Amino acid sequence: MIELSARVKAMTSSPTLKLVQIKKQLQAQGKIILDFGAGEPDFPTPENIKEAGIAAIRGNFTKYTPTSGIAELKKVIRATYLAEQEYEAGDAQIVVSPGSKYGLFILLQAVIDPGDEVIVPLPYWVSYPEMVKFCGGTVVFADHLGGERPFELTAGSYVSRYTPRTKAVIVNSPSNPTGKVMNGGELAELIRFFHQRNVMVVVDDCYRKILYGGGKYPPPLNLEPGANEHVAVVCSLSKTYAMTGWRLGYTIAPEALASAMTKIQEHSTSNPCSISQKAAVEALAGDQGTVRDMVEEYRRRRDYFAGRVDAIGHIPYALPDGAFYFFADFSHHIRRKGFRDDGQLAMDILEKLNIILVPGSAFGAPGHLRISYATSMQDIREGLDKLEAYLKS
Ligand SMILES: Cc1ncc(COP(=O)(O)O)c(C=O)c1O
Repeated sequence: MIELSARVKAMTSSPTLKLVQIKKQLQAQGKIILDFGAGEPDFPTPENIKEAGIAAIRGNFTKYTPTSGIAELKKVIRATYLAEQEYEAGDAQIVVSPGSKYGLFILLQAVIDPGDEVIVPLPYWVSYPEMVKFCGGTVVFADHLGGERPFELTAGSYVSRYTPRTKAVIVNSPSNPTGKVMNGGELAELIRFFHQRNVMVVVDDCYRKILYGGGKYPPPLNLEPGANEHVAVVCSLSKTYAMTGWRLGYTIAPEALASAMTKIQEHSTSNPCSISQKAAVEALAGDQGTVRDMVEEYRRRRDYFAGRVDAIGHIPYALPDGAFYFFADFSHHIRRKGFRDDGQLAMDILEKLNIILVPGSAFGAPGHLRISYATSMQDIREGLDKLEAYLKS
């Protein structure tokens, strides 16, 4: 048996992707599963985007492209980013990747050396700690669990964890799993502080266009323009345009970093899928009506969820500002049912109700559950009916 590398042995599998496998196994046994674990839209990719992909295939746009993305897509990224975030990126700052997950991976590979510390939000998206460890870095948590306003993303929680070994910080806004957004004042303070200390600020804004508040999303590259040599934003088309399977994301970073990331991409995946790039041009430049409709539907579901969770009682949560997850504290119900932890509660719910929920421990927050509302209103109603009866019994 081959001896695996120490790096990969230290890595744990993605608990959320594991749930996808469990779901498939249960479905194969004929069970009807209500899936509140999904980290992807339940909507299909909009028609105009699919047509652009089909046209790319028919037009034989099926060969290698420049590693960091085709010029046509970079032009559209520049135009839409300028319109939405009032920041004019240069082509050399843009790296289009097969998914924003890979963008983040190569960004961290390009910046982190063994022994460097990376400050990661707690609760965290499952891949951050694993990616940091894979680079040989040390994970340090910016704790957003305690305090008077749980889940609130503050600059202070990051600043308090700074040490001379800090090399990068990751901000995820809107957050997966909490849906909270870091406001412009906090983000500007955070960027100022870390810029002065030569620390890279990475903003994962994969859910940027799924927002429920009236205000604008604070533009990370426009809050402290003098600090931009230390700011990178990692963006995704997966969630906004229901394109998870197309694998398309992009990073806007200082040129030297973008060039280093491109080098890693060159020797690993090469270019992102040519067809997906053509589809992405249509996604970004085409009609945004379907995005508005999807966000409106998520909002309706979020509000419905909040009402139902309130009615169940003893489930503290903070209303999400964006993304499509409800993250709530189920400690009371875990205790009342005599369970050891959130994992046991989630497993019992799966076995008895055929409902998939993600244990908070997967995000570093024991006692919590993440409930995705990227699933149909009919399933949400049925699932909540079952959950209410179960938790009250
Ligand atoms: C916070 C966060 N960042 C990044 C990603 C990666 O998305 P993708 O690689 O599909 O662009 C996800 C996906 O679940 C996510 O939740």
